[in-house]
Amino acid sequence: MNKLIDTYGRLHNYLRISVTDRCNLRCVYCMPSDGIELKPHSEILSFEEITKLAKLFAELGVTKIRITGGEPLVRKNLSSLILSHKKIEGIKNVGITTNGILLKNYVNDLKSAGLDGVNISLDTLSKDKFRRITLRDNFDDVLSGINTALHAGISPVKLNVVVMGGINDDEILDFVEFVKDKNLELRFIEYMPFKSNGWTNARFLPYSQMINLISSKYTLTPIENSESVAKNYTIKEFKGRIGFITSITEHFCSDCRRLRLTADGWLKTCLFFPAEKNLKELIRSNTTDSELKKVIVETLRQKKFMHPEIEELVNQENNSMIEIGG
Ligand code: 5AD
Ligand code: SF4
Repeated sequence: MNKLIDTYGRLHNYLRISVTDRCNLRCVYCMPSDGIELKPHSEILSFEEITKLAKLFAELGVTKIRITGGEPLVRKNLSSLILSHKKIEGIKNVGITTNGILLKNYVNDLKSAGLDGVNISLDTLSKDKFRRITLRDNFDDVLSGINTALHAGISPVKLNVVVMGGINDDEILDFVEFVKDKNLELRFIEYMPFKSNGWTNARFLPYSQMINLISSKYTLTPIENSESVAKNYTIKEFKGRIGFITSITEHFCSDCRRLRLTADGWLKTCLFFPAEKNLKELIRSNTTDSELKKVIVETLRQKKFMHPEIEELVNQENNSMIEIGG
């Protein structure tokens, strides 16, 4: 029985676990312009601690886990963490979200560990622009990461594109074309404001504009899927699918099933509110499992119904995306 029900009756079965605050890219929309203070290693949960917490969440009703970062693959032996999560009773699905750079080195290990899917972030199909957005030169590595994931038969492989006005909005149709013959789920993501991440009104492109643009050239047929927060579509004779994550203009708070665990052990019940409960301190002070579970359930009961409106979000002091892990 799922015990992760908040005061609005929302049932939480999905946990996103960030395993590191480090990243091998510096994406301008994610990493604050003045950098972040990296946490000392002693503050970061060990794999044993993460697995122990994941087991408790599974006992409470979590069935789906996504491993995020920073960049999760910079953490050594990540496949072993996937394997231990796949073995947890009640966990049906373990995925990762990665920038794809290191994927080609680890894809076989991840596949053998039982990884259920990979989301790869790529915001441009131009090598030069990639350098401008990420401040690094790894465009080709990401492309081979995508290809190796597809060849290894990991499914689904999703491609996350954060759409930014004046930066990559001219590439929307190129991305659609890119997935024509590839078994990829493309997801255009509305740019969200976080602490000094370059968000301005002019840089924001709403879903309505993205879909109008695509519809001027292609016929999109909606796919019904109540499990997905994305609005998904097919295009006739396309292998790839097209989706949109409309966190800003059509938020999905009323259906939210997500919990987040940060790399330093904070439980967050909403992406847009500051961290709520430090579970690391509790597990490191020999709190019993049943007390820990009680704390998790109580923290969830403080979850608010929805995030503040965009005007308020822009001014809100929040953790940055790199610290939360998406
Ligand atoms: N707005 C929207 N999406 C973002 N991501 C990171 N920062 C932002 C932002 N400001 C995305 C990444 C990744 C996922 C974890 O979150 O591109 O795909
Ligand atoms: Fe790293 Fe992903 Fe943030 Fe880019 S979006 S800096 S790849 S964590």
